[in-house]
Amino acid sequence: MNFQNIVVTGGAGFIGSHLVEALLKRGYHVTIIDDLSTGKWSNISHLEDNPNFRAIIASAADTQLLEKEIPNHDLVYHLASAVGVKLIIEQPVKTVESIFHTTDVVLKLCSRYRKPVVITSTSEVYGKSTTVPFSEEMDVVMGATEKRRWAYACAKALDEFLALAHFYETNLPVFIVRLFNTVGPRQTGQYGMVLPTFVEQAVNGKSLTVYGDGKQKRCFCSVHDVIEGLIQLPLVPKVAGKVVNLGSQEEVSIEQLAQRVIEIAGANSTIEYIPYEQAYGAGFDDMQQRIPDLKRAQTLINWNPQYSLDDIIHQLVQLRKHPTSMLKHY
Ligand SMILES: NC(=O)c1ccc[n+]([C@@H]2O[C@H](COP(=O)([O-])OP(=O)(O)OC[C@H]3O[C@@H](n4cnc5c(N)ncnc54)[C@H](O)[C@@H]3O)[C@@H](O)[C@H]2O)c1
Repeated sequence: MNFQNIVVTGGAGFIGSHLVEALLKRGYHVTIIDDLSTGKWSNISHLEDNPNFRAIIASAADTQLLEKEIPNHDLVYHLASAVGVKLIIEQPVKTVESIFHTTDVVLKLCSRYRKPVVITSTSEVYGKSTTVPFSEEMDVVMGATEKRRWAYACAKALDEFLALAHFYETNLPVFIVRLFNTVGPRQTGQYGMVLPTFVEQAVNGKSLTVYGDGKQKRCFCSVHDVIEGLIQLPLVPKVAGKVVNLGSQEEVSIEQLAQRVIEIAGANSTIEYIPYEQAYGAGFDDMQQRIPDLKRAQTLINWNPQYSLDDIIHQLVQLRKHPTSMLKHY
């Protein structure tokens, strides 16, 4: 497929800003649409003078704006979304409404103008399944609706259903990517993301706050690897109408993650265990393990993560200790 002009919704966010940078480096023209609700202008301000870059600060659910922009573009990456467990617990109405409503508007306009669209979904969609690794065609095991965190998973699952419905009904090229924990420069701990929080705590000599007993395991993938996958997937026409996992298979418990961050940062910090109820209120649900099955990504685009967890932690610690000297490289 041949794309020249690309829209990235959520382009001022953590993943979006890296995607935009990588697309510009490859010679694409990029327009971002971001309402800066969780994203930051500073994530993209260094791109302002690039003649191939345009930023529109607005909601991606603005139908009139999309009516104007989408016809002039060849591909849409839809990343705009409420993200992060903390945000989902604190603002459940906004989360559910905005995720589904925004995706609905984006898909309608892509459908009207027949533009391919990449939808960024999440490993949260697998819910509480205990059968690892998680492969795209397996059943999901959703938690109770009374437990708020599952609202995010269900809203994103509904996004997937709607995108696939457009594919089945009108053959709209939709590319659904289920991202597992993605980490790297510019990610903020403000909305409950664990690794940036640990790095900041260690570099500032504070205790690292582990929620629960810390035995829950996760796999953290570098944003640089994720971006490669996001760029390659829509270039392969047979990926349209499919769900594809992108993530790392290197497992670590949250307790071990805290220990590795302390070690790599050379910090004297201790680990403080905080019960889930204290962190998120009563009735919080978590899952013990989440590993992606990568066969699809490997077969379709020959994708495998290149960065180890230690590489990522080293990079983040260096960046935290010397913020300005390394900023340009990331
Ligand atoms: N970071 C992860 O580990 C992870 C894991 C799974 C899935 N994802 C998905 O990847 C995408 C990007 O996530 P991120 O980690 O970069 O988060 P982020 O919060 O940094 O980025 C989201 C961006 O979308 C913008 N936004 C939100 N709602 C909007 C709207 N209605 N209109 C315009 N802009 C809007 C925010 O301002 C922000 O810049 C999201 O769809 C998220 O669900 C992320």
